[in-house]
Amino acid sequence: MSNLIAPSILAADFANLQRDIEMVNNSDADWFHIDIMDGVFVPNISFGMPVLKAISKHATKTIDVHLMIVNPDQYIQTFADLGADILTVHYEACTHLHRTVQAIKASGMKAGVALNPHTPIAVLEDIIADLDLVCIMSVNPGFGGQSFIENTYKKVSQLKHLIEFSESNCQIEIDGGVTDKNANQLVEAGANILVAGSYVFKSENPTETIADLKGLVN
Ligand code: DX5
Ligand code: ZN
Repeated sequence: MSNLIAPSILAADFANLQRDIEMVNNSDADWFHIDIMDGVFVPNISFGMPVLKAISKHATKTIDVHLMIVNPDQYIQTFADLGADILTVHYEACTHLHRTVQAIKASGMKAGVALNPHTPIAVLEDIIADLDLVCIMSVNPGFGGQSFIENTYKKVSQLKHLIEFSESNCQIEIDGGVTDKNANQLVEAGANILVAGSYVFKSENPTETIADLKGLVN
């Protein structure tokens, strides 16, 4: 199974967090997607280090941390210590992106870069060979439950071409508004990791929803 499902914990029930983590552990999901927001880079605050620490204690799958914060550099080692396997920073939040990416790798994590919906793929040309993952935001970051932006398909194809051209091993993750309605087209365009928050956690049977989504794209 080469296409992965990463449930976004932002949509979990925080009063039953351990239950929801165990659900993901025991499901067909591949990764935990963890959204960290600072109220500055995005107009919302999610949760921070103590909550990630609690999640890490119970999670048995890869922890994919998506930082929606300014100055991510000052927290790289902290996120490594908290159990992040992949650390994704926003292109728009990094002045010295190359340095940030190297620092993430030096801390033993895989390095990802996320692009806002308005940011073109071309800005990654000179960094793509150093990246393990690119996260294409298919909504404006900050909130779960928003509608998928259709222009994303085009960006996925462009990124796929750039990755092939540069012989990079970079993976393509899609974040925002993912459902059974767009999953296939995203994978056909070249995506291989689908983040899904509301679609999974607001469904009647999240375990089944994860299994169905995974089956749909594999
Ligand atoms: C949005 C976050 C997403 C969010 C996705 O800023 O980065 O990971 O949780 O939620 P849904 O799947 O509900 O759009
Ligand atoms: Zn995210």
